[in-house]
Amino acid sequence: MESNLVRINKFIAMHSDIARRTVDEFILQGRVTINGVSITQPGFKVDPSKDKVSVDGEPIKISTKKIYVILNKPVNIISSVSDEKRRKTVVDIINLKERIFPVGRLDFDTTGLILLTNDGDFANKIMHPKYKVDKTYIVQISRPLEERHKIKLMKGIKIEGIRTGPCEIAFPKRNDFSTVSITIHEGRNRQVRNMFEHYGYFVRSLHRSSYGPLTLAGLKSGEWRYLTAKEISSLITE
Ligand code: URA
Repeated sequence: MESNLVRINKFIAMHSDIARRTVDEFILQGRVTINGVSITQPGFKVDPSKDKVSVDGEPIKISTKKIYVILNKPVNIISSVSDEKRRKTVVDIINLKERIFPVGRLDFDTTGLILLTNDGDFANKIMHPKYKVDKTYIVQISRPLEERHKIKLMKGIKIEGIRTGPCEIAFPKRNDFSTVSITIHEGRNRQVRNMFEHYGYFVRSLHRSSYGPLTLAGLKSGEWRYLTAKEISSLITE
């Protein structure tokens, strides 16, 4: 029946952590098979009740349940699905039977709010620079932040040839200018560390306290919970 058919890229994105655009590339590279036959058209449709779809020879298992988790990441945990050095990962902490993956990453020694999901399209969407999700970090630096550096960092500085966007910086503790809260709207690799290190501040600790409208209220280090439907839509409609 025609109505059972789904586009192959949508089908794979729904049942794996591979985003739809990546699926299209895989299809063009001949890495996707339907019933053992390699296909090369991204618009191809499949019947999920009958067709056996594989990527690189790995069958795609049908999972209808979308999972969205918020975790308060402890220190010294790796933000990936697996680690070749067999260090503990954020996925090990959650320990669900469904395959989930972190949305973006926090450094090994960064703590705080990280999202995990099995929804590749959702992850891609909220990480896209267009959405500019605000991320707030509490940073302990090695000496009080000087006003002239604060002003420059807020306007944006050049790191590896690329200018950081404007950000907000505040001091959440009275008379403590080594504890800084910084809200950025982008997410380059090691961005916050690089920003402070640019002016010679050593980052003693880094904690993400919020992500868009979400905070860690009620979650101790190492604790997690599922997001509510309202929280999920608040992230993509902001
Ligand atoms: N910026 C960093 O430098 N590290 C993180 O883990 C997150 C943001």
